[in-house]
Amino acid sequence: MMNKVAFHDSSIRHTTGQAIYIDDIPDQENLLHGGLVLSKCAFGKIKKINYSKLSNLPFYTKIIMAKDIPGENEIGPIKNGEPILAEDIITYYGQPVAIILANTHQEAIYAANLVEVEIEFIDDPILTLDEAYSKKSFLDDPIILEKGSVENEMDRSKFKVSDSFEIGGQDHFYLETHVALTFPGENNEYTVWSSTQHPTEVQHGVGKVLKVPSAKIDSKVRRLGGGFGGKESQATIFAAMSALCAFVTQQPVKIRLNRHDDMTASGKRHNFKIYFTVGFSSKGKINALDLKLLSNGGNVLDLSGPVMTRALTHLDNCYFIKSIKAIGYICKTNTVSNTAFRGFGGPQGMLAIENIIYSVAQFLKKPLDEIRHVNYYSKSNGLTTPYGQVVTKPRIDRVIKEIYEFSDYHKRLQTIKKFNLDQTRNKLPFRKGLALMPAKFGISFNKPSFNQAGALVHIYSDGSVRLNHGGTEMGQGLFVKVAQVVAECFKIPLDQIHITSTNTAEVPNTSATAASSGSDLNGMAAWDAASKIKNRMINHASQLFQKHKSEIIFENGRILAGNKSLSFSELTFSCWENRISLSSTGFYKTPKIHWDQGKLKGHPYFYFTWGAAVSEALIDINTGESRILQADIIQDCGNSLNENIDIGQIEGGFIQGLGWLTCEELHFSQDGKLLTTGPSTYKLPGSRDAPPKFKVKLLENADNDEKTIFRSKAVGEPPILLAISHLLALKDAIKAANPLSRPELLNSPATPSEILKVIRA
Ligand code: MTE
Ligand code: MOS
Repeated sequence: MMNKVAFHDSSIRHTTGQAIYIDDIPDQENLLHGGLVLSKCAFGKIKKINYSKLSNLPFYTKIIMAKDIPGENEIGPIKNGEPILAEDIITYYGQPVAIILANTHQEAIYAANLVEVEIEFIDDPILTLDEAYSKKSFLDDPIILEKGSVENEMDRSKFKVSDSFEIGGQDHFYLETHVALTFPGENNEYTVWSSTQHPTEVQHGVGKVLKVPSAKIDSKVRRLGGGFGGKESQATIFAAMSALCAFVTQQPVKIRLNRHDDMTASGKRHNFKIYFTVGFSSKGKINALDLKLLSNGGNVLDLSGPVMTRALTHLDNCYFIKSIKAIGYICKTNTVSNTAFRGFGGPQGMLAIENIIYSVAQFLKKPLDEIRHVNYYSKSNGLTTPYGQVVTKPRIDRVIKEIYEFSDYHKRLQTIKKFNLDQTRNKLPFRKGLALMPAKFGISFNKPSFNQAGALVHIYSDGSVRLNHGGTEMGQGLFVKVAQVVAECFKIPLDQIHITSTNTAEVPNTSATAASSGSDLNGMAAWDAASKIKNRMINHASQLFQKHKSEIIFENGRILAGNKSLSFSELTFSCWENRISLSSTGFYKTPKIHWDQGKLKGHPYFYFTWGAAVSEALIDINTGESRILQADIIQDCGNSLNENIDIGQIEGGFIQGLGWLTCEELHFSQDGKLLTTGPSTYKLPGSRDAPPKFKVKLLENADNDEKTIFRSKAVGEPPILLAISHLLALKDAIKAANPLSRPELLNSPATPSEILKVIRA
């Protein structure tokens, strides 16, 4: 039986400080450190890079600029036009212009701050979404999701509501900032260690910048101190910088960003502005939805296209929408290029529809849940998503029924009503709100080619197993899950599987560990590799034991046939003696998926995960401060591979979502400088912000209908969406504070000032 409660393989090392992150790799004697020279304006032409002050320093420095690049100054993951160092034009405040090398990290940072970049004015920077939209400043063509005739359905709808709202961005705030360390070797070989979710993209980026073929570049990472999407494409920038410096100096070079530079020069969650008109019946059935979504792509495209696509394909959440026209504009602004962040646009899309449904409920003066109920995917309403995929077996009814019970929803609604009445009557400042959030999330990369994975399993003659695969470990517990799969294949104890660093030299052409699909993809690839070896072992055992293959059983670390048996290590030794290969690669590609990115139609998701949360919010109507008092969550993890890990992911994702929606606020100065560049100004959720009552349950007897690894489901991103329940609960509390207020206008993050603004409007 698989150990479904196995600890994270590094839990002890994480907590005792023994886990080795890239910055912990012992320094080689000739190691150089790089510090970034960042631009001090958001838009302009570089006139001169003045580094004369460096010569007065009492220590060694060396400046590296774009002109030192032997290959292309280009690492765009989708489209070209994304340099690692600005060459001519500055397009955001804080853009890296040069790298200063020194013998220590501190010296490099100190020296980098002495370099002055002289700038020629071109025009005022574009800093807001509306400004970009009105100037038609876009990074790509608009992406359009269309189904049915919105015009006709809108005309036919009894009611219409139009409005707009904003959704804030979010910094990843991984504990380990971006870091990369490159070792040059002979014959133009490079070994690049970087904190990346996508070692293959680092390999490609470094190759392009250095003009070196992939075969000469080993891209490696043992673990990341968090990625959350922030190190999916953008780790390549810093890895390529360290490789460039290693190329120029032929010495090992490490670049580790301090928090200020990391927050300034790396992308965040896209902030969005949504304009909508919704047409609906007197029951609240949505017949027509006309939307304009503006996302802030920043200065270059990066992954903004797929992020918008995921926002558009999650606009439906759990609801059947008869007709829709949603146009997504990726705005080009003079801010840092925004990137992947847990949910990858999905949260923005789902928050949009939940806000719209909230508006419908307010208009009709009906409970939110009633409006939802009328619109859920069901046989009678319809099961086809706006992008054409059919929601074959929705689990909405199940999760809603269970969350009602689990959270004691209906009873608490009454208690809270009474609490609010008491507070109002007695002129007291507190109000409470309670709200539910149902969630459906599509699993797979929208681009079908990304849905593949490889693994490499070796068994040594002593019976120990070495496991490698294309996934990266960023704290989410992928490595232990994949190890569990291999242990289960051979029926040996988990600790007999040795987990190793991700490395493009062992498993090539990997996909990013992203889209929550790490365990689905790599778990299957590892199973494939292990199964191939196991079959060879079975063949050999059948000869040894003179038994038919079907009689060979792997059980509890032994191989049995009738009354004969060998230990796993005895059999592997015998395989070696008899010249049987104990090593294999494995491969997996996700079946069933197809996608037409031009039309936004197809079957992009192998399956959906389902979940629901109920949150209870408390606000102080005088100060606008808020708290979450209780959260109850039910999440569909299929047949969970590891319940401990999954519950950890759900709790962590939910809290990260709370941060996004309530306190994490990015502030820019009028000339485009990010002002919130550390925890003192950027408010992260702390331990006191976790709900004092916090219950998480995995949906039971919930095997995936699709043939995933052990019928499990992905869990990495979906729980972040459930935090929307708290935003809705805050609206509920605001409404209780002032029945004339319009909580549908509440923007996120719902900071105290935002809450006060809406209460008092
Ligand atoms: N959990 C931790 N602890 N650290 C992380 O960086 N990233 C999240 C999620 N959970 C992350 C995390 C994101 S954005 C994704 S896509 C998934 O993990 C990726 O891993 P998986 O595919 O193995 O779930
Ligand atoms: Mo996660 S945003 O797909 O890295």
